[in-house]
Amino acid sequence: MSEITKQRPKFLNLVAIRLPLAGFASILHRVSGIGMFLMLPLLIWLLQLSLGSAESFEALKSVVANPLVKLILLGLLWAFLHHFCMGIRILLIDVQIGVEKEQACTSAKAVLAVSLALTAVLGLKLLGAY
Ligand code: HEM
Repeated sequence: MSEITKQRPKFLNLVAIRLPLAGFASILHRVSGIGMFLMLPLLIWLLQLSLGSAESFEALKSVVANPLVKLILLGLLWAFLHHFCMGIRILLIDVQIGVEKEQACTSAKAVLAVSLALTAVLGLKLLGAY
């Protein structure tokens, strides 16, 4: 083992590591992407129910009325909105917009706030509040 490898600091206690906000938002981007991918079968099934026939549309309505399904859909709504906002942020950084540390921190905060606010607005619609 080389001297450099031996001296490398090792701090892999994931609970104790204090991530900067941008790192936290970045991990959520990965989590939301994987979550959406894993939930694709559910979404495709719901799409199929919505398009199949009048009867399957009625079935869709009763499936979506289930509180557990509503909760999953609320989670998916947040996942999409966070992933979308964060994806735009990453693409902007890829073209050198908002690369500076302070700007990157502000944009990470904005992504977290905007995605949560949009989830609240659209989530209330999902829960039938308006
Ligand atoms: C329509 C809006 C979307 C945008 C703008 C977007 C954008 C991005 C970008 C820019 C990345 C690369 C991130 C990086 O370089 O670290 C990415 C990764 C990824 N996306 Fe999306 N995406 C979108 C929708 C989706 C959807 C609908 C899914 C799943 C069904 C998805 C799943 C993933 C996954 C699994 C990754 C890899 C995450 C990682 O390795 O950290 N994305 N997305």
